Amino acid sequence: LAMEAVPLLLLLLLLLLSSPLAPAPANGLLSPKGVNYEVQALMTIKNYLKDPHGVLKNWDQDSVDPCSWTMVTCSQENLVTGLEAPSQNLSGLLSPSIGNLTNLEIVLLQNNNINGRIPAEIGRLTKLRTLDLSSNHFSGEIPGSVSRLRDLQYLRLNNNTLSGAFPSSSANLSHLVFLDLSYNNLSGPVPGSLARTFNIVGNPLICGAATEQDCYGTLPMPMSYSLNNTQGTVLPAKSKSHKAAIAFGSTIGCISILFLLTGLLFWWRHRKNRQILFDVDGK
Ligand SMILES: *[C@@H]1O[C@H](CO)[C@@H](O)[C@H](O)[C@H]1NC(C)=O
Ligand SMILES: *[C@@H]1O[C@H](CO)[C@@H](O)[C@H](O)[C@H]1NC(C)=O
Ligand SMILES: *[C@@H]1O[C@H](CO)[C@@H](O)[C@H](O)[C@H]1NC(C)=O
Ligand SMILES: *[C@@H]1O[C@H](CO)[C@@H](O)[C@H](O)[C@H]1NC(C)=O
Ligand SMILES: *[C@@H]1O[C@H](CO)[C@@H](O)[C@H](O)[C@H]1NC(C)=O
Ligand SMILES: *[C@@H]1O[C@H](CO)[C@@H](O)[C@H](O)[C@H]1NC(C)=O
Repeated sequence: LAMEAVPLLLLLLLLLLSSPLAPAPANGLLSPKGVNYEVQALMTIKNYLKDPHGVLKNWDQDSVDPCSWTMVTCSQENLVTGLEAPSQNLSGLLSPSIGNLTNLEIVLLQNNNINGRIPAEIGRLTKLRTLDLSSNHFSGEIPGSVSRLRDLQYLRLNNNTLSGAFPSSSANLSHLVFLDLSYNNLSGPVPGSLARTFNIVGNPLICGAATEQDCYGTLPMPMSYSLNNTQGTVLPAKSKSHKAAIAFGSTIGCISILFLLTGLLFWWRHRKNRQILFDVDGK
């Protein structure tokens, strides 16, 4: 029976590995030569969004540059440094093309109805200082590439339906001063030392500290944890010994069960042998 299950399991594994990622909406943008690549990226972003109030109406793919467009700000060199369209009732998806706007310093899309995932390409915006995607319907995990945003100072992802853990490689977010992850469905630990001000309320499964024992549930991480020396050193030590005790206990438990099973097996075989002998004798 076990041998028969092996090909089935392999098939299942193959199916899991080969399942396609979410299909991207078709994008009919053909780029003639000489088109400004930031125009191209912004037009793709527009095509992925639904814009009921027509606030992106003057975005036009024949423009020389996008610097006169609504919601777009440029540097003196006519490079796109800002995309600011809060509270415009935009819905649809945020296109991965945002990763091609590598001069962006500020992205404000809060208080819309955008859904789908936060594109991993956002990690290419290495000049980004402010990112606000709060109060939308973003779901899925926060892409790990966010940890590459080394200039990021202000990050708001609150009031979405994000799940999973905050990227564990977030130690590189050394300039972060403000982090709001509240009212999502995030889980796991968020290092308290990440930002001076941060908010994680409304995530039933999140932990406010690096150790699972210190999970505060719906409470924000108290700042005293990092300020109070005695507390800071005592807690991890306690949880370490606690973990060791659990590991010790379960090892002993496993060994006992193994012994018991072996004993049972021997007793059963012994008994069977005796029965056979008995049968032979009785014959
Ligand atoms: C925003 O869009 C939704 C549909 O996506 C619509 O039901 C709602 O009335 C709109 N709100 C405003 C203020 O336009
Ligand atoms: C980014 O730009 C390049 C060329 O400029 C293009 O080939 C690529 O498709 C763009 N990526 C996205 C996600 O739009
Ligand atoms: C976020 O959601 C909470 C709970 O639903 C609500 O009380 C709060 O006003 C929301 N915040 C924003 C900025 O929308
Ligand atoms: C932090 O940045 C450095 C330099 O870019 C990189 O080598 C390292 O892998 C990054 N660490 C994490 C945890 O992302
Ligand atoms: C939150 O995430 C957990 C698993 O991580 C899932 O079981 C639960 O249904 C999610 N809740 C919502 C409201 O999405
Ligand atoms: C530090 O923690 C101890 C015990 O947990 C407490 O008595 C003390 O008041 C705390 N000190 C500060 C500055 O919070």
